Amino acid sequence: MKIILVVGARPNFMKIAPIVAAIEAWNADNPTTDSIAYHLVHTGQHYDEKMYRSFFRDLEIPHPHVDLEVGSGSHTHQTAQVMLRFEAVCAEQQPDWVLVVGDVNSTMAATLVAVKMGIRVCHVEAGLRSGDRTMPEEINRLVTDAIADLLFTTSRDADENLRREGVPPGNIRFVGNVMIDTLRRQLARLENLSPVTLLPADRPYGVVTLHRPSNVDDRRVFSGILGALAEVSRHLPLVFPIHPRTRKMAGQFGFDGPLVDLDPTAAPPVAGIHLTDPLGYHDFLNLWRHAKLVLTDSGGLQEETTALGIPCLTLRENTERPVTIWEGTNTLVGVDPEAIVREALCALEGRGKAGRVPELWDGKAAGRIVAALAEFPL
Ligand code: UD1
Repeated sequence: MKIILVVGARPNFMKIAPIVAAIEAWNADNPTTDSIAYHLVHTGQHYDEKMYRSFFRDLEIPHPHVDLEVGSGSHTHQTAQVMLRFEAVCAEQQPDWVLVVGDVNSTMAATLVAVKMGIRVCHVEAGLRSGDRTMPEEINRLVTDAIADLLFTTSRDADENLRREGVPPGNIRFVGNVMIDTLRRQLARLENLSPVTLLPADRPYGVVTLHRPSNVDDRRVFSGILGALAEVSRHLPLVFPIHPRTRKMAGQFGFDGPLVDLDPTAAPPVAGIHLTDPLGYHDFLNLWRHAKLVLTDSGGLQEETTALGIPCLTLRENTERPVTIWEGTNTLVGVDPEAIVREALCALEGRGKAGRVPELWDGKAAGRIVAALAEFPL
């Protein structure tokens, strides 16, 4: 069997790493008859050292066979460029399957190309729905799931969403969460590595990430969030590895005032919002795993904090990952500054949510995916 694995942007890399490892493990166990040949395609949606290369290194992902180098641009431009360039790869490789992960523009673009060429597509992390069609990722999820052939889900509510949208139950497989496969593996490796320690682990601090257009491209919303973070940071120093989009918008709006660059050589900061450039997987994991509190608009971090039992406040009005609220440590606070401060102080007083790890987030999801693919009749 031949399969093309597609990645495009930062949150894809931690999802593909365990799948590559599981394919290699499968091939070691099935050296002759049933081996799986994979061809790794990076679309180049994220392209620089901090958003791409350091992740491949940290997560031991092999060098991609192809880099489509699409780069940044409008959604239409990015999607169209992936489609044009990916079509040529599919024509040349003639795979049995294309495997896509997550919900970025590259996910949807590669799916459209493959389906139209008559190539089977499987989607890892299918069925998540925020119900918010102003989110570009929600459109990517809806389109991908509507046309892909085999849908691998991380939680039971995702199965339910897919069934409600008319996906035949036989095309849905609840396999667990590949991102947690990566988290477990890298946590174990961290003991033997020397990741950057930005703040001493015995000193309380919080971690912030923020990059959604709805939060940082709107002056009023962004200003409200920063005001709330400044208030929280009077009680708990905040470290903020800042996404390029967010840095650009903060500069444009003139919001740099409360944001100071973190100085790792200085005495531990007492208050304030301390910026760093985006961090690689290991350095970031080493930072957030010791945090008292995480405030984020990321998708993946809602799940990762639930897996490690760290209180997480999600600065959005909705989430496509409700299991992290029903079962985990996540609280949806929205973007109202007062609510953000209230919930943050509540968590700091030790009244944050306790949670449990959701079903099948056990570090073995990628193995289940590869086994399901190997069994699927071609
Ligand atoms: C993309 C994904 C989003 C994901 C996020 C994680 C879509 C629709 N969005 O959003 O779901 O949560 O990645 O990071 O696919 N830039 C760099 N270096 C890079 C890449 C981008 O500096 O390697 C800068 C560029 O100025 C670019 C901006 O960041 O314009 C935004 O990048 P883009 O890929 O358009 O979207 P993200 O906001 O990163």
